[in-house]
Amino acid sequence: MSRTMVALDFSKKEDVMNFLDKFDKPIYVKVGMELTYAFGFEMIREIKARGHKIFLDLKLHDIPNTVKNGMKNLAKLDVDVVNLHAAGGSAMMKAAMEGLNEGAVNGKRPLCIAVTQLTSTSQEAMNEELLIPGDVKDVVISYAKLAKESGLDGVVCSVHEARAIHEACGADFLTVTPGIRLSSDSKDDQKRVATPQFAKEEGCDYIVVGRSITKSEDPYKTYNEIEAIMEGK
Ligand code: C5P
Repeated sequence: MSRTMVALDFSKKEDVMNFLDKFDKPIYVKVGMELTYAFGFEMIREIKARGHKIFLDLKLHDIPNTVKNGMKNLAKLDVDVVNLHAAGGSAMMKAAMEGLNEGAVNGKRPLCIAVTQLTSTSQEAMNEELLIPGDVKDVVISYAKLAKESGLDGVVCSVHEARAIHEACGADFLTVTPGIRLSSDSKDDQKRVATPQFAKEEGCDYIVVGRSITKSEDPYKTYNEIEAIMEGK
């Protein structure tokens, strides 16, 4: 099982395909809004046809009926993981799961994980703009519990929250964590970063890694080194 999801944050399709050409084995990739809105689902199908697993990171957030039908269509793509904003509430999340079950291919639906609070949302912005009182970490845990109660499979969170989320929601509730940097890397625009080693120690189920792999001199080697850490080899 691959525990490293590579964020394919490229703006050109040929860059995506050139990157994937370096891998002679299936890997887990994260495809977000930028690529999907530029190249459509055809590219998702192409990546899938190469045998890779896909986390389709489109973060749905709308009324329950719209999210249900949207998720039904995403499930038909036979991707492995999809996501939504927990801020849409339990009715929206339950509707999403209904949609995924209805669209499941051969009885297998994608896993569904929730974004709790975006890591770009500061404590101050959450309290003063979004008018959500309290500490960000407490809000993240409370949204994670709501996601669990609504039948979701896990959350996107920071490495620093994964342990508390597992304690609150159970060991089998998935934690998918971006903001990963190797100790030799620059932080770029990420603020609270963590190494793959620390992510493993904190019990993260999957890590999302973008630039540390995509901008590496030898992406294949860096990917394998990170996977070895996550698999504890
Ligand atoms: O290049 P880097 O490793 O920073 O990329 C991280 C990926 O994870 C990007 O695609 C980014 O959008 C995504 N992400 C994140 N923080 C979140 C949610 C998603 O960095 N809270």
